[in-house]
Amino acid sequence: MSSLHQQLQQHCSNASLNINTLFDSDTSRAERYTIEAAGLFLDYSRNRASDETLKLLTALAEECNMARAIEALQSGSDVNNTECRPALHTAIRAKAGSDIKVNGRNVMPDVETTRQQIKALCDKVHSGEWKGYTGKPIRHIASIGIGGSHLGVNVVTDALAHHANPDLSLHYIVNIDPVDISSKLDQLDPETTLFVIVSKSFGTLETKENALTARRWLNEQGCPESDFHKHFIAVSANVDKAVAFGIAEENILPLWDWVGGRYSLWSAVSFGAILLLGYDTYERMLNGAQAMDEHFRTAPLAENMPVMMGLLSVWYNRYFQSESHAILSYAHGLRQLPNHLQQVDMESVGKGVKLDGSPVDDNTGTIIWGGEGTNGQHAYHQLLHQGTRLIPADFIVSLKSPAPQGDQHTWLFANALAQARALMTGKTEDQVREEMIAKGMDAAEATRLAPHKMVPGNRPSNILLMSDITPETVGALLALYEHKVYVQSVIFGINAFDQWGVELGKVLGDEIYSALQHPGDSDDFDAATSSLIKRFKA
Ligand code: F6P
Repeated sequence: MSSLHQQLQQHCSNASLNINTLFDSDTSRAERYTIEAAGLFLDYSRNRASDETLKLLTALAEECNMARAIEALQSGSDVNNTECRPALHTAIRAKAGSDIKVNGRNVMPDVETTRQQIKALCDKVHSGEWKGYTGKPIRHIASIGIGGSHLGVNVVTDALAHHANPDLSLHYIVNIDPVDISSKLDQLDPETTLFVIVSKSFGTLETKENALTARRWLNEQGCPESDFHKHFIAVSANVDKAVAFGIAEENILPLWDWVGGRYSLWSAVSFGAILLLGYDTYERMLNGAQAMDEHFRTAPLAENMPVMMGLLSVWYNRYFQSESHAILSYAHGLRQLPNHLQQVDMESVGKGVKLDGSPVDDNTGTIIWGGEGTNGQHAYHQLLHQGTRLIPADFIVSLKSPAPQGDQHTWLFANALAQARALMTGKTEDQVREEMIAKGMDAAEATRLAPHKMVPGNRPSNILLMSDITPETVGALLALYEHKVYVQSVIFGINAFDQWGVELGKVLGDEIYSALQHPGDSDDFDAATSSLIKRFKA
């Protein structure tokens, strides 16, 4: 155990780390505990962290060679050491003309060619040159994909809906549950629908099955097999499999194995959204992410937004044993952000071994959850305020609304600040009792109710202010969280870019599917599984 770890352990029980006390003793805290970058403003003053805490956490980052790790990520080192490859999501959003090498070869020409291909396909669809099997232009896009081939893109689509082309509609088909695709097909016109099959591997069960159903549906609706190519585009790193599915090679947009699925929204994976929102919007989003990458690479550790957010997360996770982290989007357009961050964070740092395969000796990934403010205030905020667990929260708020209505945005903003303030200041039992008595309540009744009404406070939160909800700030926000996750992985000493844990379930799923299809009983499973297989068959 390093001496820094011991110091942090001792330091976390220090009574002076009460957020309210910290504010009382430092009038400049609200200004000092902030970082501004890429159109985002992070206010991290409402944390159980003093200058001493930040000094220790920054020293921890230095001890873990954070600066070198950031350089390794962005320069294409094999940071994914179990799959022996880089994780170059920063390259797919890098400036044209950059020189970023994988195995000694600059990958940017491929990235730029693909951008041109995306743009050309967009122009073809928007101009009406791309026609369906009856000669009509495309009006509906159905993007079929799951996990990293859906979640981040969905956030972008919702967040930037005010940029949407009114002549197009976009639908995501995700789940293996046939209800998902059935409900979407009901809204589509086969003559004017373009399916975008998004799968890095082109082997994911849900996507494969949904793509087959889409093809069957088109055929049943009258599209001859020879015209299927007019209704399908694929985005994949596995061109052979996409071709075998029947997609014309010129309509396959490439992905590369050096981009992780959950980090791939910057690529052609977003093709459906790019069609809807426009190529310019996509480029602007890449610019926003680039600005965050630049900040991550160049800002000193103590002034580095992703580093600070990552370190604070580690602080609560490892030293206060907090088990989860809430993402509270006070922006309707960002309501899907918690779902995306669940994958980015939990699939990346939900690991039990270090880079060298030895078991970790402390907590790794936390549970990411959350939702949309103010809706959550009328649902789960009760637990945040009075529950027994310490749950750090990020409030994501924009200074402006993309769709103003009267003073509703001011109310939204006020509520975000009020929640952060309530979490921090709380209200003591004495205060609550006095207030009730002042309003005329009998003293005995006020004493009985006070413990129920008191709010402990001293609950940490970050406020992330977006100057506005623009393609640039959305890009910067998504890149920020990707980097925050990487920072955690560096402190934990784990690989953030593999996901072996999801494989076992896939293999077992295949075996159980066979048993469900096969007549007769099967003894190949544990008793619990066998009994439900029997019930399904019966
Ligand atoms: O099963 C997990 C996973 O591999 C994710 O990591 C990935 O984002 C998702 O499935 C979809 O994979 P693909 O893009 O290859 O279909």
